[in-house]
Amino acid sequence: MRVVIQENYDKMCKWAANYIAAKINAHKEDRPFVLGLPTGSSPIGVYKELVRMNKAGELSFANVVTFNMDEYVGLPHEHDQSYWYFMHDNLFNHLVDMKPENINILNGMAEDPEAECARYEAKIASYGGIDLFMGGIGVDGHLAFNEPFTSLTSRTGLRALTTETRLVNSRFFGNDAEAVPKFALSVGIGTVTDSKEVLILINGHNKARALAKSVEGSVSQKWTCSALQLHKAAIIACDEDACGELTVDSYKYFLDIEKEERL
Ligand code: GLP
Repeated sequence: MRVVIQENYDKMCKWAANYIAAKINAHKEDRPFVLGLPTGSSPIGVYKELVRMNKAGELSFANVVTFNMDEYVGLPHEHDQSYWYFMHDNLFNHLVDMKPENINILNGMAEDPEAECARYEAKIASYGGIDLFMGGIGVDGHLAFNEPFTSLTSRTGLRALTTETRLVNSRFFGNDAEAVPKFALSVGIGTVTDSKEVLILINGHNKARALAKSVEGSVSQKWTCSALQLHKAAIIACDEDACGELTVDSYKYFLDIEKEERL
C-alpha cells in the first residue's frame, strides 16, 4: 500500500486529481475507462480540480464510465442530500463531455433493493470491472457505507447505518440525526477491492485514528478500510492533519519512499 502524505487538503486534492487524470489520459484501450466515485466532503476539492482540467481541455470524460459507491435509501434524486444530487451538483453538471448514460448511481428509491444491487454488480462486471475506485472513509473507518463488521468480501447490498455515522452525517441534515436515512445501498468491500486500483482520500484530524488503524492495524472487519492492505494497488492520499496517530517511523517511511515524483 502507498500512503501519499500531502501538506494540506488542497495539495492532497490536487495530487489525487492529477493521478486520476493521468490514468484516464493514459487509457488507450477500445473500452471505456471505468471510474468509481465517492461522495462526502473529502472529494469536493478533487472534483473541483477535475472540472477545471476538463474545462481547460486537459482531461476528457467522453470515454469514462462512472459508478458511485453508495446512495441513501428513500431520498429521491431531487433531494439535495441524495448522492445523485451531490454528484450532479459537484461534478457531472460541470463536465463538458460527460455522457449522462455513462453515469451509474445506485437507485435508493428502488422497490426491490436487492435486485437493484444485483443489477449494479452485473453492470460493473459487464464493463470488465472498475479500473480505479476513488473513495473516502468515515471516522470509524467505513468505506462506502460498509460500517464496522461488514464482511471484507461483501458485495453491493443494503446496509444499515450506525448511530455514529448518522450523527456525523447529520451536519448535512440541519444537525438532525433523525433526518438522516437509516439505510443505504452500497458497493461492498469486495466490490471495491476487485477494482484494478483503489485511491482513498483521508484528511483532517478527525480521521487520524481511522488512518492509523487502516494502515498500521491488522486487517480487520472492525476497520473495513484495512482490507486495502491486501490489495495489489491501493493508495491512500492524505493530509498532514490525518497523520496525527501514525507512529513516527511509519510517517517518516512514507515521506521517504514517496519523495521522488511518480505516478
Ligand atoms: C459517508 C459516505 C462515505 C464517505 C464518508 C466520509 O458516510 N457514505 O462514502 O466516505 O461519508 O465523508 P466525508 O468525506 O464528508 O468525511
